Amino acid sequence: MTPTHIGIIMDGNGRWARKRGLARTQGHVEGLKAGKRIAKAASDIGIPYVTFYVFSTENWKRTADEVGFIMGLVRQYLRAEFSFSRENNIRVRYTGDISRLPSDVAQDIIDTCAESACFTGTQITLAINYGGRDEIVRAVRRALDNGQEINSETISAHLDNPDIPDLDLIIRTAGEKRVSNFLLWESAYAEFYFSDKLWPDWTASDLSMAIADFQKRERRFGGIK
Ligand code: FPP
Repeated sequence: MTPTHIGIIMDGNGRWARKRGLARTQGHVEGLKAGKRIAKAASDIGIPYVTFYVFSTENWKRTADEVGFIMGLVRQYLRAEFSFSRENNIRVRYTGDISRLPSDVAQDIIDTCAESACFTGTQITLAINYGGRDEIVRAVRRALDNGQEINSETISAHLDNPDIPDLDLIIRTAGEKRVSNFLLWESAYAEFYFSDKLWPDWTASDLSMAIADFQKRERRFGGIK
């Protein structure tokens, strides 16, 4: 079976740039191109949901210049590249606390999600100002505000995108083997795939290899075969 929902921790943009004597920001530019390549590849394969970890709740620790640059890239992806979504019938969604983003960035995210809501192909979710713990805390607060008892079902039902199924596969690039606060609730039974390749070097064939590896896994979800 192909995975229904793939989460991608795109790592190694900075190292990609350093290896070439370039500014870290250039690595992010290439990282965005890789994001589009992989989004297109996932859409061609027919993967229903892909979540990209674009900016974590911890990424504010980076320099103001780098943070500003990444925000600019996000706006570019959302606005200038909207035709890319249309051509590929890709619906763009988001997860994370966008109320803390610069208001122009937050507005672009809201607008793009609304404008692409009619596209029926692959759903690409951008995790922006996202932290897995933060999402769980916000879900619990929403459930309490709605007068609900707290249990697994009510927390799941109050996540940022309750209709998106849990993760089947998490891909992390650039040799790191950590979860880094990504989709903690949704990854309860996810398979992991680690690649040494830096994110800007990722191509459609790397995605195909990750999926082929996933297809060899035996998933028992805590039961026995
Ligand atoms: C990790 O590289 C990457 C990020 C912090 C996220 C930035 C991602 C993009 C700009 C791509 C955007 C993609 C889409 C689909 C909108 P790093 O800086 O941590 O690399 P390093 O560990 O080598 O320093």
